[in-house]
Amino acid sequence: MSRAATTDPGLQAEALRDELVRLDHAYHTLDDPLASDAEYDALFRELQAVEQAHPDLQTPDSPTQRVGGIPRSDLPTVQHEVPMLSLGNAFDDAGIVAFDRRVREGLGVASVRYAAELKFDGLAVTLRYENGLLVRAATRGDGSVGEDVTPNARTIATLPLRLEGAHPPALIDVRGEVLMFHADFDAINQRQRAADAREFVNPRNAAAGSLRQLDARITASRPLHFFAYGIGAFDAGTSGVALPETHSGLLDWYRKLGIPVNDERAVMEGCEGLLDFYRRIGTQRAGLPYDIDGVVYKVDAFEAQRRLGFVARAPRFAIAHKFPAEEATTVIEQIDVQVGRTGAITPVARLAPVFVGGVTVTNATLHNEDEIRRKDVRVGDTVIVRRAGDVIPEVLRVLIDKRPAESVEYRLPTACPVCGSAVVREEGEAVARCSGGLVCAAQRKQALLHFAQRRALDIEGLGDKVVDQLVVRDLVRQPADLFALDRETVAGLDRMADKSAANLVDAIEKAKRTTFARFLFALGIRHVGEEVARVLAREFGRLDALLAADWPALMERKRTLQKENVGRRTRGEAQRPIPLEGIGDEIVQALAQFMAEPHNRDAIGRMREVGIVWPEADGTILRVDAVDTPQGASAGPLSGKTFVLTGSLPDLTRDEAKARIEATGGKVSASVSRKTDFVVAGAEAGSKAEKAVELGVPLIDQEALLRMIESGRIK
Ligand code: IVH
Repeated sequence: MSRAATTDPGLQAEALRDELVRLDHAYHTLDDPLASDAEYDALFRELQAVEQAHPDLQTPDSPTQRVGGIPRSDLPTVQHEVPMLSLGNAFDDAGIVAFDRRVREGLGVASVRYAAELKFDGLAVTLRYENGLLVRAATRGDGSVGEDVTPNARTIATLPLRLEGAHPPALIDVRGEVLMFHADFDAINQRQRAADAREFVNPRNAAAGSLRQLDARITASRPLHFFAYGIGAFDAGTSGVALPETHSGLLDWYRKLGIPVNDERAVMEGCEGLLDFYRRIGTQRAGLPYDIDGVVYKVDAFEAQRRLGFVARAPRFAIAHKFPAEEATTVIEQIDVQVGRTGAITPVARLAPVFVGGVTVTNATLHNEDEIRRKDVRVGDTVIVRRAGDVIPEVLRVLIDKRPAESVEYRLPTACPVCGSAVVREEGEAVARCSGGLVCAAQRKQALLHFAQRRALDIEGLGDKVVDQLVVRDLVRQPADLFALDRETVAGLDRMADKSAANLVDAIEKAKRTTFARFLFALGIRHVGEEVARVLAREFGRLDALLAADWPALMERKRTLQKENVGRRTRGEAQRPIPLEGIGDEIVQALAQFMAEPHNRDAIGRMREVGIVWPEADGTILRVDAVDTPQGASAGPLSGKTFVLTGSLPDLTRDEAKARIEATGGKVSASVSRKTDFVVAGAEAGSKAEKAVELGVPLIDQEALLRMIESGRIK
């Protein structure tokens, strides 16, 4: 951009103004942003700095002189009786400490009561209620003049068209934010995609585009929400209503009137409380169903607010404490592909480092081939990346007007970059895969990591770096090879101390004792997650039974039973349990395919040879009378016994203990009753243990439980 090329402040200010006007127009009028918020803010602050250093360069039409937003020309306009102002920003703790100091000094007090709330990332609107009726809704526009969106706002389901309570004020302007929730945003974009219509770039944009419509029917088809956070004009009239004296009181009162108010708010004394609130909300941010870009602190007492007043176009009594931007602009330097455990090929964008979501990001996922095609992402493109919470950073979209002239469409490689095998994409699948299977070092590595992970065989110390070396040095080709590793070999790996080598070999040895469900999960069969593995373990009971399964016949039986059950239901008869409940065709197909591969059977055989063991049971599925067995009760050693878990066990998490009990036919229940057979109590066992004593239910510890499972004897 030209601004960087000049040092003349006059030319620089002009270039910045032009660019900001262009971005403003694209954003507010066309609802089609050309830059990320962070990029816009940076330009804006740059212009502010130039104007501050050279006040004579400030023009009345400079974007810095506007509160934000230009009314859309084709909607009727509304003059705001009380202007809609903006907020000052702080980006760090020091900014808040300084704000608190200014407020205290301004009021001449030692400590101030603040109301803290979320800074919603939507669009500001003002709602006028006359004698309790919603008569007008307007956007903020430029702060003085907004757009009339009354018919559109009326379609917002959570907004009352009439206020609750018998004596509404003659007039009240309720101010707040209109938002679109993430789930609705995703659904709408999916709809847009299906209709080949343009997608919205983010929920705020979608909310703005949906509210600022000439046709309210369109607004009605797009679910919007509203949260109130302020007040404009007010006239009690003859109602006798007195306004609350505090901001927090105002929001409480709004709630009584039926106006939506967000629950995430607090009142606190002094600066510390504000910073605690900021941190708490920061940890919750990624889990909220809508976007926020910070929190807002307001002096709670209206009287104090009035005394503090305003500076320029922002109040002295309030400030926005912003979170690090979750979106940023950067350039794609390269596109690589990663090969996953099942051979899935994931394209990854290598980025020019960019600070986003509070960290520096250099990689972003591009998901799959279709996504790349849809977004038309190319090497050399300037893109918006997003990193929200702990989510993997992703490329949101391309800024097309910054695309280099020579750019070419990206194509996924046709050969696996790791093993050279063909990359294939099956019909109906979004994901392309390397066809190399365990020949491919990348897949082997991922398969081993999966096998060793905590929820599978739980081999502590077998991480990324170690597995990498084991595969590269060809020491381990399949999981069973792990069990042949000795201390010397392991100690010979890079950065492996003798002690760690000894620990790892011990951990591998210990991992030999497992459960059937964990073993099945560890095999890494496509679609067989922990839950599916548990169902399989429970219903088959033994590995041999599973290896011998006639999958097509099982599916057939399942379908027949399902049909018969429909008949039984209509006749009011008891239902027969369905085998492999919750396990659909896709999973069965994956299982059948996996088991049909001789090398998979060999690998399983080798794992048994090296001594991986677990307690086996007679499952329900392959027994002749299976259909008559009550559901869930299998014939394992714990068959028919009900356990309750309480407190924390020394070695097993609650899920693990539950899985072991269930894998051997037992049931785990949440509460103790006379029907409970055993209560397994760990450290800090509470009322459930007391209840057991009261009812005379035997209390056992982890050791006793494991003995029962392993010996198959209930004592
Ligand atoms: S108070 C006089 N409270 O932030 C103070 N604004 O830069 C006026 N916003 O346009 C605003 N959440 O769209 C306030 N809890 C909140 C807010 C909030 C979001 C937006 C609002 C406004 C902008 C101010």
